[in-house]
Amino acid sequence: MKKCFIIANWKSNRTTSQAKEWLETVEKLKVQSEIDKEVIVCPPFTLLSDLKSLIFNLKSSIKLGAQDISPFGPGAYTGAVNGVQIKEFCDYVLIGHSERRKHFHEDEKIITEKVHQAQKNSLHPIFCVQDENASVPDGVSIIAYEPVFAIGTGNPDTPENTENIAKKIKSAHKEVVYVLYGGSINSTNVYNFTSQPSIDGVLVGGASLEAKEFLNILQNA
Ligand code: PGA
Repeated sequence: MKKCFIIANWKSNRTTSQAKEWLETVEKLKVQSEIDKEVIVCPPFTLLSDLKSLIFNLKSSIKLGAQDISPFGPGAYTGAVNGVQIKEFCDYVLIGHSERRKHFHEDEKIITEKVHQAQKNSLHPIFCVQDENASVPDGVSIIAYEPVFAIGTGNPDTPENTENIAKKIKSAHKEVVYVLYGGSINSTNVYNFTSQPSIDGVLVGGASLEAKEFLNILQNA
């Protein structure tokens, strides 16, 4: 059976109490069939510590990912959270998201440094690309294809086009093992993507914020 990643990207949303309620609901209502999936939640940094404790207490199989990483190691970089710190909580980190590229002016050089910092600290980068021609740093094995027109718009790419792009990315980059899709995924359209042979999961923004809808996504994927 092919691996299926279901990744929640909470972006700049949720407080501690909301995050706890979400995880408790997901764990309470989760059914057996969802356990095979690789479920990763990427909350803001402020929630990582509490979520890690709760995952431990609830014996949850959910993994944590960070939404960002400093391009530098530890040191005098005010405001930055580095890979050593992130590794205390996470196994994964999102890098190259179009919102980081647009609103935080991240260019290829910074993004590549971030990938190096992730790799140095044994974090798996989930490397976001906006089309099949984007450059991919060495050693990246998980790609999320997220066309900008599809993010937060309710207008996803087609599963057929995404399948073609996933195939192209895998054949152009031999180290890439998994290609995920992100952009307006919900519980109604998720299976159209996860049922394609070359698509290995989804990265979900808005629809991951409500526990019940996220559970429906898990169930239908
Ligand atoms: P969306 O966001 O599901 O809200 O479209 C996806 C993403 O930006 O990762």
